[in-house]
This record gives sequence, structure tokens and C-alpha cells, in this order.
Amino acid sequence: MKKDLLGIGDLTPDEIYAILDTAEAMREIGQRTIKKVPTLRGKTVVNLFYEPSTRTRTSFEIAEKRLSADTLNIAVAQSSVLKGETLADTALNIEAMQPDFIVLRHASSGAGHLLSRICKSRIINAGDGTHEHPTQALLDAFTIREHKKRIEGLKVVIVGDLLHSRVLRSNVLLLTSLGAEVWACGPPTLVPIGLDRLGVRASTSIDEAVADADVIMMLRIQQERMHGAFVPSLREYFTTFGMTVERVARAKPDVIIMHPGPMNRGVEIASEVADGPYSVILEQVANGVAVRMAVLYMLAGETETEN
Ligand code: CP
Repeated sequence: MKKDLLGIGDLTPDEIYAILDTAEAMREIGQRTIKKVPTLRGKTVVNLFYEPSTRTRTSFEIAEKRLSADTLNIAVAQSSVLKGETLADTALNIEAMQPDFIVLRHASSGAGHLLSRICKSRIINAGDGTHEHPTQALLDAFTIREHKKRIEGLKVVIVGDLLHSRVLRSNVLLLTSLGAEVWACGPPTLVPIGLDRLGVRASTSIDEAVADADVIMMLRIQQERMHGAFVPSLREYFTTFGMTVERVARAKPDVIIMHPGPMNRGVEIASEVADGPYSVILEQVANGVAVRMAVLYMLAGETETEN
């Protein structure tokens, strides 16, 4: 693997499968009475989150602690960022304290690439603007493979705010590289130009898109990234693109319903679907810990999980 994990494009299909296989072993650690191994003892991980996060930040921290790393979280709202310090200066000052990893979430696409150029620490992208969220795509692939036993040949339909979604981009890169048939569905105003060049079938008809799907992945409407009216109203959006029990019935009988979170219930997904029998949404969250343990372990270049 490369020094940093900035995007799915950094990984070959063999490396993706190696991370998924390693995550299987890491998950077993989480099922023990003592959920801790000394693999990253003596390593320091700084979690630097400039955007809000519940799942990613918490699961990275749990993953780091399960691997015995020394871990600390920079509370950006209480840091010198508020005094005008740039991302580069903040990173260089953290770097001066010689951490081994910096896990970065930032509103600007490419923020991880900037840190990668100026830091010796290993950089893990925990979501950069509308660009990529590689560990989310890896945990999504782990969850899909667990249920379907394969990824190649599956029809995976991604529905929602495609334009602003880093989860879409990372999932498209990962799933197409492993041979899935990827569909993307949303209102014309929220379909990015050039999606077809990534090997994705774009549709503005949800009924067409979900027909015979193996996997339906819902995306959040990201109002915080919208500068203008992309949908007439949230009520109309739900009527046209919201995932309902009736729409799920058009997919394969063993379809799984995914969502990276946080969900807007009643906007992109009905509660009956989010909490229903096909939903694997909380499994995705649980799998995030094992997958992030695997990423940390493999980037550290270690060879043993046990001791
Ligand atoms: N899926 C995800 O990135 O969730 P958080 O924003 O809560 O980390």
C-alpha cells in the first residue's frame, strides 16, 4: 500500500480485497472479552476533524484504541484554527509533535492531498469536501460482501444527492473496480456531469433504477453544501426519490438497504425502510470499526494482529 489513504484510486483491487480480508480478522478482536491487541502500541494517531462527524470519528477512535495506539482528538472549535491558523500551519504544528497518523476530515476537496505533501505522518482521508470518503466505501463493500458473498456482477443502485456526495464517488470507484454494475439515480439537478465516464448508469427514474437491484444505497440530501434550490421541496423530493416499502418491492427479494448516515428520515428514506428487515444500516456502522482497524494496521505495515 501507499504511505497514505487519500482515495479509493490509491488502492488496487487486490489491496481492496486484502483490506476486507484483514477486517474480517479485526472484527473477531471486537468480539472478545478484552477487545484490545498491542499491534499499534507506541504509535500516535491524531484525529483532526474540521467537519462534524459521529460515525467516522467515533469508529476511528475505537479502532485506534483496540489496536493500542495513543489517540487524541483535536477539537477544531477549541483550537487555534479559530484564530485564523491555516490547515497547513495546523498540520505542520501537529507534525512537529511526531504523530504516526493524522486522520483528517475537512470541507475542502483535496485537503488530505495537501497534508500528504507536507507531512511525514501517514494521512488517512476521513472525508474531504465532495471528493472522497474511502473508508466509508471500504466498510460498505465489506457489508455487501458479507451479505452477498461477492461484489462482482451485483446491481448496486445509489440514490439521492449524487452531486455533493463523496460517498458516491468512493463507492463508484471501488464497486466498478471490483466488477459491480453501478447505477446512480437522482433528480437531474443533482446528477454530476461525467458520471457515465466512471462506468455508472445514471437514471432519473427511481422505478427503473431499483428494478431487480441487489443493493440499494441511499444518500443524504446535503443541504449544507447546496448554494441554491436543487429540489423544489423536501416533501416533493421524498415523493419522487424517497425510498419507500413499495419501491423496495421492485428490487430483488433479498435486496439490502444501505445508508452511510446521518439519515434524513422522511426525506430520502422512510422509517419503515430504515428500520425494516432489509436494512443493514447499523451493520455498516459496526463494520466501520473493523475496516478502520484494518486500514490502520495495513498502513502501519505490521504483520501480526495477535500477541
Ligand atoms: N458516514 C459518515 O461519514 O458519518 P459521519 O459524518 O457521522 O462520520
